[in-house]
Amino acid sequence: MKVLAVILAAGQGTRMKSKRPKVLHPVAGEPMIKHVVRAVSKLRPHRLVVVVGYGAEEVRRALGDEYLYVEQEEQLGTGHALLQARQLLEGKGDTVLALFGDHPLITTKTLRRVLDENEKENAAITILTFHPLDPRGYGRIRRDSAGQVVGIIEEVAASEEEKGMEEVNDGVLCFREGWLWPHLEKIEPGGKGEYYLTDLLALAVEEGERVLALSPEDEEEALGVNSRIDLARAEAVIRQRIRERLMLSGVTMVDPPSTFIDSTVQVGQDTVLHPHTILEGKTTIGANCSIGPGSHLRDSKVGDGCTILYSLVEGAVLEEKVDVGPFSHLRPGTHLASGVQVGNFVEIKESYVGPGTKVGHFSYIGDATLGREVNVGAGTITCNYDGERKHRTIVEDHVFLGSDTMLVAPVKVGADAKTGAGSVVTKDVPPGSLAYGVPAQVKGKMKSELEENHS
Ligand code: UD1
Ligand code: CA
Repeated sequence: MKVLAVILAAGQGTRMKSKRPKVLHPVAGEPMIKHVVRAVSKLRPHRLVVVVGYGAEEVRRALGDEYLYVEQEEQLGTGHALLQARQLLEGKGDTVLALFGDHPLITTKTLRRVLDENEKENAAITILTFHPLDPRGYGRIRRDSAGQVVGIIEEVAASEEEKGMEEVNDGVLCFREGWLWPHLEKIEPGGKGEYYLTDLLALAVEEGERVLALSPEDEEEALGVNSRIDLARAEAVIRQRIRERLMLSGVTMVDPPSTFIDSTVQVGQDTVLHPHTILEGKTTIGANCSIGPGSHLRDSKVGDGCTILYSLVEGAVLEEKVDVGPFSHLRPGTHLASGVQVGNFVEIKESYVGPGTKVGHFSYIGDATLGREVNVGAGTITCNYDGERKHRTIVEDHVFLGSDTMLVAPVKVGADAKTGAGSVVTKDVPPGSLAYGVPAQVKGKMKSELEENHS
């Protein structure tokens, strides 16, 4: 079957009370329409057209160039919106699947059923219907005495009695391609001058065509987002789906309701996510990690066996067996090599920290390169900013930085060197030497110092 899919997304969504186009409001970290596009793309449609209007450019930019777009200049209703796709689609397939950009919960499986049923039964139209707790805002399904669907009445046109009908239009409509286009032209404007796509059902029934209605397996799939209350409901459902997918793939979640994960996040096997943890954007977490409680990760890459406790991690890369927290902040450009330990109240940005290095307590490391097995004493700070420009600090392998060392960049501390507590390092410290004082002076070689102490 050659499927032609059309996603209607031209409306502003007045009930959202927002300047942003409705379909771009995020649900689980992605614009709501992306969830719809993903569900449809998995059907491998022959063509996928998005009808844009309000905020057209923004919607295009959010979705990218992979899809076809057509602009509906005036939002004259869903029937008029679908008609805009005619030039792109007429004669190009067997079945047209029309769906709305404000239905982020729809699944590929349900769409597949609608398509298959429409084809198998040679119907002109197959729709999805459901019974929401509150039918307000939806088009009501009209059935005849034999139980056959005979039409959809929109809320604005419905009588009080009809408003009491509990079965409503989900918003997924599937059409036999040859039947659709000529009939779409025949729709008359309804209340408020809009052309209702849903009027096609009555037309088909009049002509003796078959019209079918199916229900989604899970009624929550049918939720259409019109207000921010619906938006929060959709968010809750998608978040729960993501959590369930991850738990089934081997991730432990101590308290799923307080664990928020974007659909773009990946988490490895046997990792434990503790309560109040938020994982956002392009974050990937390896296996056997312990994340949280109280940790927030965004666009970060975490290797296997890491622990992150009560910390904020943004745009950072952590290799294996890295420990962070409690109460630390890793900012963009942080790269922690394997076995690094970052303790409490540490901030790091734009820095590489070599394998096995420890930054235990109250430090700021910015624009720095730290070698392997460096010991960064409590309170150590890179003074990277001179008021005008940022400068780099280099600390080579096996350096021991005494507590409260100030590294006034640009500056380099050579391998195996040591600084005394409270040093203000303004000049490079040669490898293997000891420096201390304010400003720090080189006071000899580490080896001889040690020998003196031992004698
Ligand atoms: C629509 C259906 C209703 C159904 C409900 C399910 C119609 C007439 N009504 O009502 O039967 O129960 O969805 O959620 O189809 N759009 C355009 N151009 C337009 C108007 C709308 O592209 O001129 C797009 C919107 O961006 C939106 C979708 O179509 O993504 C649905 O529009 P909306 O105004 O939300 O329709 P509802 O009143 O919810
Ligand atoms: Ca809607």
